[in-house]
Amino acid sequence: MKILFIGDVVGSPGRDMVQEYLPKLKTKYQPHVTIINGENAAAGKGITEKIYKNLLEWGAQAITMGNHTWDKREIFNFIDDAPLMVRPANLPPGTPGNDIVYVKSNGIEIAVINILGRTFMNPVDDPFRKVDELVAEAKKRTNIIFLDFHAEVTSEKQAMGWYLDGKASVVVGTHTHVQTADNRVLPNGTAYISDVGMTGPYDGILGTDRDAVLKKFLTGLPVRFEVSKSGRNQLSGVIVDIDNNTGKATKMERILINDDHPFFS
Ligand SMILES: [Fe+2]
Repeated sequence: MKILFIGDVVGSPGRDMVQEYLPKLKTKYQPHVTIINGENAAAGKGITEKIYKNLLEWGAQAITMGNHTWDKREIFNFIDDAPLMVRPANLPPGTPGNDIVYVKSNGIEIAVINILGRTFMNPVDDPFRKVDELVAEAKKRTNIIFLDFHAEVTSEKQAMGWYLDGKASVVVGTHTHVQTADNRVLPNGTAYISDVGMTGPYDGILGTDRDAVLKKFLTGLPVRFEVSKSGRNQLSGVIVDIDNNTGKATKMERILINDDHPFFS
């Protein structure tokens, strides 16, 4: 089983990259399942129903989210009709949306989970205890478990990777928008990377227009952050190989496409 994951899609530059390169990545890597983080897909914050549907049309089977899940208010109108969207699970009981999404390929199920970190993030429930619950639930159906851990600090992400080593097939970090070079398969078979990186503007600052970010740093005055539209874009992702019988990962490769790392078919 091969899973392709595309990191945080930021605004229209990120969506354009998915539309252009996802078919090419599918031809090159032949993934069975494609998962995309869509929490920044609508103008950098949140997601709309149209964009959710577009990402599926362009080739995703599941959409993970993060701390910006609720930023576009229309999400409350469609989240109950979005069976392939998984939002962070460590939110208060009764929060709308799915804790786990199951995706099937050739009769094999993959459980997709999304959890928020706590360090330097808004308060949420304990991600480690919550993931224990979800892994136990998912194991009743499948031993292929994919976690998008949406968190700020590398230590918390590494801790989650080691915590789930041998329990989940894949732990990918998202949220910090910069791809880390620490992809590996941990000793008990969990593929891990601290951050997959972002899909969107290449010349902004984490995808945001850099003049606004610089003004913020230089003056401390309030500024309006907008998605950078400089024209050059990037795509960040990973491709993971998993043994169908054991649920253990055997390989995780990084994917980075930009002007300095052009795509080769
Ligand atoms: Fe985020």
